[in-house]
Order: sequence, then structure tokens, then C-alpha cells
Amino acid sequence: MTARIANPALAARVMEADAAAALIEPGNVVGMSGFTGSGYPKAVPQALAARIEAAHAAGDPFSIKVWTGASTGPELDGALAKAKGIDFRLPYNSDPIAREQINAGTMQYFDMHLSQVAPMAWEGFLGPLDVALVEVTAILPDGSLVPSSSVGNNKTWLDRADKVILEVNHWQNPALEGMHDIYYGTALPPNRVPIPLVRPDDRIGQPTLRCDPAKVIAVVKTDCPDRNLPFKAPDAAAKAIAAHLLDFLAQEVKVGRLPRSLLPLQSGVGNIANAVLAGLADCPFEPMTAYTEVLQDGMLDLLASGKLRMASATAFSLSPEAAHALNSDMARFRDRIVLRPQEISNHPELIRRLGCIAMNGMIEADIYGNVNSTQLMGSRIQNGIGGSGDFARNAYISIFMAPSTAKGGAISTIVPQVSHVDHIDQDVQVIVTEQGLADLRGLAPKQRAQVVIEKCVHPDYRAMLEEYYSRALRDSYGKHSPSLLGQSLAWHERFVRTGSMRG
Ligand code: COA
Repeated sequence: MTARIANPALAARVMEADAAAALIEPGNVVGMSGFTGSGYPKAVPQALAARIEAAHAAGDPFSIKVWTGASTGPELDGALAKAKGIDFRLPYNSDPIAREQINAGTMQYFDMHLSQVAPMAWEGFLGPLDVALVEVTAILPDGSLVPSSSVGNNKTWLDRADKVILEVNHWQNPALEGMHDIYYGTALPPNRVPIPLVRPDDRIGQPTLRCDPAKVIAVVKTDCPDRNLPFKAPDAAAKAIAAHLLDFLAQEVKVGRLPRSLLPLQSGVGNIANAVLAGLADCPFEPMTAYTEVLQDGMLDLLASGKLRMASATAFSLSPEAAHALNSDMARFRDRIVLRPQEISNHPELIRRLGCIAMNGMIEADIYGNVNSTQLMGSRIQNGIGGSGDFARNAYISIFMAPSTAKGGAISTIVPQVSHVDHIDQDVQVIVTEQGLADLRGLAPKQRAQVVIEKCVHPDYRAMLEEYYSRALRDSYGKHSPSLLGQSLAWHERFVRTGSMRG
């Protein structure tokens, strides 16, 4: 294994993962790298999980608090959750074992806007950070660190933690060097200044992470791939959603509200977002740019075809095939991709300035355009809010999309009232299902309800929704956004009771 560790002092701290894991104490708060399945530490968390399991077998309590960039991989969240080793976690999570424990009430989970994690850590609201455990591509002679396939909160973890453990992953391509832009100009109020980024391509920082070598207690060599799940091929609903959305964008260009190259794209996680990106390949918009959180397969294809001039993100979120393709051709993409800390990729000031087009998935929306991105039936967390709130509130156009039904038709994703609100109606401008697209810009609540019912709801639920809405129009306490308090969540209640929202 030829991990690149060119700093002699740090090379002297190389050890096996077991020895590094032994330096993490029960109760420690550990800030880990990792963002949507890329750039997360892979060896030390597994060694730590084994240690925790051994402690539990001996009757000793052992758990830690985990902070990350966003979701990681089975070697981190999966292994530690399986060992029952995480008692508190933040922010976004998509690991199924951790999700189960959160929903069973045995793991505390603080779901927060991704742009706010680093500032809150600096402001002291999250408490002290004991250890930073960060994957890097290489250590340079001066001790600076070449980041990995995600940046996330690594800058903040390295600066804030008392101790640092580095995993140097030889699998990560050396050609990643030079792709990152790490901005060190953030400060706490009252000393904050404008962030000097006015185009998605601007580089405002430095290519490497700083790290005080005196804090580094261990360096571990690894050679493990990022483990992302493959995307499902877009189904008919995803294709229909993409088609509605692309028609809408074409119309906006036609009437002069968007330039032909569109505005910087933000595309959320999941298969529908990826289907939209695939659809963009056949559209006349070019040259496009992206100012987004994750770079998915679809975006890589657009970069390869030249339709996308450049992309700014904080992480790759690629299928194994796309990760392989990128890894074997990294040098070709390096100058057209910028990876930044998530406090910059998701920064409200920058999203508003650049005028991003935000396209995100949702769990459900209600007739007034409130959106639930996180909690099934108002109480079971799916993943978390991720960056959807950072982008939705500040975007030039904020779009949410989902199939009109879930669970084989037993659930309508368009409901009288969402069972949990992540995005209030003021932050939601366009809702798209395979049935159609509701453009809610400039509409008052009753106008919004009419458009949502007409365009987005599945035919199986349309009569039910119309019936509810006409009763609400008649009997509601106020007539601004008519609502029947005792009935607006009856569909959810019925699903929980019977397994179907249908009457
Ligand atoms: N009620 C109950 N369950 C629902 C539902 C609803 N209205 N809508 C979907 N579900 C279920 C699905 O059936 C599925 O369950 P399963 O895993 O048991 O099959 C699960 O929720 C996920 O749905 P799916 O359609 O596969 O989701 P997706 O991959 O399109 O992702 C979100 C949709 C909302 C979960 C995802 O976009 C997300 O996590 N968003 C929040 C974060 C975000 O937007 N990040 C990007 C910002 S940069």
C-alpha cells in the first residue's frame, strides 16, 4: 500500500486501525468526515465498533456521539449503529440501522440544516468536540491535507477537535488534489464579512485543509472504496416528473424569466433528481452550471457531454459504476468540479446571490404548498432535512417533487395538511408529481389549493381531496387558508390505523 504521507512527523504516527480506535474513549464526541456515501472514514469506525461490541459483551457501557457532514456508509453509521455504539447523532442520516434505532427511540438524532452545522459548532451551541476522525487523500510535506471525495464539515472538525485521527485512503485518486476550495474566511458575528463568491466557479480559498500536527494522535492507512448504492433506473413516474419540470424550465426561458443557460442548478438526492438530470441531457439549455450539494451520476454525464460547464458541490454521490468512471478519468474533470465545505456549498447568502434553481424530493405536500421532507406520518424520520431548507428558502425558484402516491397507492403524497412541516408554503414555489406541475408563485392560499388539486393529486384521491376542501371552504374557522382542524390529518390517522389512506 502506498498511501501518500509526505510529512515525517505525521508518518511517524502511522498505526493500525485497532490501535487508533483504542484512543477513542466512551462518551467522546467524534466529528467524522463523510457526506452522502463519500469520503467517510472506513477502518477506524469498524475497529471502534468491534471494541464497543467487546465492551458490551463484558457488561461495560460504551457509546459515542457522532457528528458528520451528512450520510456516510455501512462501515461507519452501519457498523457503529449495529454495535449500539451511537447515543447521539447529527445531522443527515440515511443508514437503515441507525434510522431504525432513531425511530425506536434508542438513538437521539438532531436533524439540522446542513449549512448551519459548522457555524453552530463554532458558536459553541453543540458543545465541545473531542476527536476529529477524517479521511483524506494524502498528507503533503508541510502537513496540509488533500481532502477526499467529500469536504463536508472537515475544516471545522479539524480546527475544533482536541485530537485528530486521519485515515489516508489510497483508493482515493491522487488527481483529486487541486479540485477542492477550502475557504477559511468565515468568522463569528459581529466580525462576519461578505463571502467573496459571485460565480459558481469562483475559487476563494485554498486547495488543502490545515491541521495542527500537534493534535494528530494517529494516522491510519486504508485502501477502501466509497460505498454508494446504485441508482434505480428511472421508472415511468420519475420520467413523467422530469418531463413536466423540463417543460416548465423551457417555458421560463421562452418568456425570459430564465436565461438559455438556466441559472446554477441544485439537485437533491434520490432517483427522481437523477432522472431530471438525465432529462436535461436532451434539452437545449447550455452551457449550464451547478451550485449544489452533491454531484450525482446525472451531473457527471452532463459534465462529460459538455452541457454542464462546471459544477460546485461539497461531495460526490455516485453509483459504484459512476465512481469507477470518475476515478479512472479524474484529471479530465478536475478543473470543472469544485468541492467546498458544506457551509459554503449550502450558504444561504451565496444561494440567494447566485439565484439557484433548487430541485428537491419530498415526502408529501399539502394543498397550500407546505412540504414535508423528513417524517413519515409525522413521526418516523426517513433521512433528514439535509440541504433542502438551505436551498428552498433562498433559491431563485424552489421546486419540490415526488410521485403522487407511495406504498403502492396506499398513500397520497398530496394531502389536506402535511403531517410535519419542513418547508413552509412561502418557501415552496413549484410542486411536481407525475400528474402535473403546480406553479404556485404569486398565488394566495385558496388559489394555490385549486392549482395543487387540479395538477398534482392522483385521480384515486382527487374526489376525496375536493370533498375535504369544499367542506373546509364551508366550515373553516377562517377563510384565508381554509382548514378543518379535527379532520386535516385524518388521512394519516387512517393510514396508521388501517394501512391505507383510502376511505
Ligand atoms: N408517506 C409515507 N411514506 C412515504 C411517503 C409518504 N408520503 N412518500 C414516500 N414514502 C416512503 C417510500 O415508500 C419509501 O419507503 P421504503 O424505503 O420503505 O420503500 C421511502 O419513503 C423513501 O421514498 P422514495 O420514494 O424511495 O424516496 P426518494 O429516494 O425519492 O427520496 C426523500 C425522497 C424525501 C426521502 C429524499 O429526497 C430526502 O431525504 N429529502 C430530504 C433531504 C434533501 O432534500 N436533500 C437534498 C438537499 S441538497
